[in-house]
Amino acid sequence: MRTPRRTMAQAKTYQIFNLGRRQKIRLDLNENAWGCSPQVIEALENLSAEDISLYPAYDSFINQVAEHYGVGPEHVIISNGADDSIRCVFDAFVEEGDEVLLPVPNYGMFDIFGRIRGARVIEILYHDDFSFPVEEVLAAISPKIKLIVIVNPANPLGTVISEQELLHILSEAGDSLVLLDETYWHFVGKSYVSLIKKFPNLIIVQTFSKAYGLTGLRLGMLFSAAENIRQLAKVNLPFAVNNLALKAGSAALADQMFIQQVVLNVRMEMHFLQRELNQMGIETRACSTNFLLMKVGDRADEIYQALQQRNVLVRNLTSYPLLKGYLRISIGRREDNLKFLEALRDIRPPIAPIQ
Ligand SMILES: Cc1ncc(COP(=O)(O)O)c(C=O)c1O
Repeated sequence: MRTPRRTMAQAKTYQIFNLGRRQKIRLDLNENAWGCSPQVIEALENLSAEDISLYPAYDSFINQVAEHYGVGPEHVIISNGADDSIRCVFDAFVEEGDEVLLPVPNYGMFDIFGRIRGARVIEILYHDDFSFPVEEVLAAISPKIKLIVIVNPANPLGTVISEQELLHILSEAGDSLVLLDETYWHFVGKSYVSLIKKFPNLIIVQTFSKAYGLTGLRLGMLFSAAENIRQLAKVNLPFAVNNLALKAGSAALADQMFIQQVVLNVRMEMHFLQRELNQMGIETRACSTNFLLMKVGDRADEIYQALQQRNVLVRNLTSYPLLKGYLRISIGRREDNLKFLEALRDIRPPIAPIQ
């Protein structure tokens, strides 16, 4: 009988929005509209035949990452995107019957990996003002909780947890692991990687997909205490990261000026979009990420569709907890943002302010 593992029945497939790119403005994937550092392109132009024909060697890139973050290489794992790091955490630590604390709404892969592993995913609702439910998470901590997920800044809510709140959870977590996903950290400028030295229950995941703009190459990384890394290494594929990603990652890490410029551009365009949307009477929420949220109320589905018909793709969040009536807009370059606004203004009847 070709039956999958029993736990598969409760897991969904991650919905990849394969809506194409031809003539489309894709503001639905939180990609980097400013591409990647020119130094990355240069590094890739200098690929050798061996880069293609030989298995990758991780050492020098891992050392570079470790040095950049001021930790030893024994605290680092590199992976095929942040998703692959997250998978490693679930594969190494979460087993059937374990409980996973997941603040919601949240990025989809935590729920999927948890369910595939047969864990009980305990959802805790963010607060109405989108702030992190610290007290609720603290109250839910018990010896049965294997993993507590914290995404900072959060996706899709765009809010941050304060350092004090994070420290509180880390010190109360006991033997539960805290999985801190810092996919969007550059946009707020604060990473907590140094805390892995103090908290053996902390695992931090980061990516090259957002500020660095290496999304298509798939490169992520994870930081934790050496004893956790030893377990995680067992579930990490031997060559999950290819030579192109290693070269690109190394060049990207060396060009921090590019990151500063991207962060500035995102802030400027976020500000521009907010101002324009607010002038149209549309409520927005600035986020500590590379996207913003806009509230269009009962017309969310219709406006999402209308934008799609006009070749502008955004993310419809209206079915998510706390986000009824909201759309998520990735911050684009000015020309794409203008086209998005033009498409929005073209919708009939015009979008009226929500009462
Ligand atoms: C919170 C969060 N974690 C992880 C990921 C996956 O990133 P990657 O492209 O590195 O797999 C995303 C992607 O958008 C995300 O939003």
